[in-house]
Formats: sequence, C-alpha cells, structure tokens
Amino acid sequence: MNDQSTCACSCGCITAEDPRFAELKSYIDSLDQNQGITMPVLQEAQRSFGYLPLEVQKFISENTGVPLAEIYGVATFYSQFAIEPKGRHHIGVCMGTACYVKGSQKVLDKLAEELKIKVGCTTADGRFTLEATRCLGCCGLAPCIMIDDDVFGKLDDISRIPDILGKYE
Ligand code: FES
Repeated sequence: MNDQSTCACSCGCITAEDPRFAELKSYIDSLDQNQGITMPVLQEAQRSFGYLPLEVQKFISENTGVPLAEIYGVATFYSQFAIEPKGRHHIGVCMGTACYVKGSQKVLDKLAEELKIKVGCTTADGRFTLEATRCLGCCGLAPCIMIDDDVFGKLDDISRIPDILGKYE
C-alpha cells in the first residue's frame, strides 16, 4: 500500500524533501556494494513508496551507480514492481481458462464500467486498482475475482458487483 502520509507537500505527490529518500539512502548504504543490489533496493523502494515513479528510479540510479535504463528495465519487467500508483484495494480478475469460459471478460468489463477506469489503472480517488490476472487457484468458483485477500466466486451474475465493491470504502 502506498503510504503517502509522510509526503512533504499537501498534494500527495513525492517530492525531493520526502523523508523516505533519506531512509532509502541509508538502506542503500547498508548493502554490500559487491553484491547485486538492484533488486533489494527496488523492493525496498516499492515497499516504502508503494510504487516506483521516475523520481525514485533516478534517485536509485544516482545512489547506486546502476544506469537509469537498467533500473527502469527491471522495474517494468517484474510484476512485483509498479511504476504507477496503486489503489488502496487491488482487484484481480481471473482470466484463466476456467474463468474465461464462464464469462470473466463480462466481469472485467462490468468492473471497468463501475469504476470508470481501464484495466491496469487506478481510480481517481485512489480506492481501487483493476487488473486481469492468471488463474487464482479456485477454478471451482469460476468466474472469480480477488479483492486484496478476499475471493469472490460464481460471478456469472454481474449484478452482484456493485455490492461487492461497496464493501471496500
Ligand atoms: S481459472 Fe480462474 S481461478 Fe483458475
């Protein structure tokens, strides 16, 4: 979750004065520079900032000596990293085979319509991020979605979706 409560300005953006940069610098300095440090530093930055905007990628590059292009390449290759802010609640719509044949595209379309966002995006209020995922491992409940750690199955009746979203304020 992106905790921006320590942001130095009131708009919620990440500024150079953000104390998390100093914390990240301390973390970088604590690492053995002879080991591959890109992954642990990106993981720490992701944990701290909630995502990896360009300012954070540049900071990491300047303080580790790893080229910005390489930082960007790793940040965009691994799904554990995000370069866009994430919502407080993550919705994963299963697009695995069992869910797909039972109508997961309709579920995804309904969610996108309700939230007024495209897949991969976050609502303007920062409440939800909507993503399509691989099999969630509960094919017997197809079509299903996961919101944070909660699974909702048998969603062929998409009229249930607004009520489900309403549980997450
Ligand atoms: S295909 Fe959707 S849970 Fe497995």
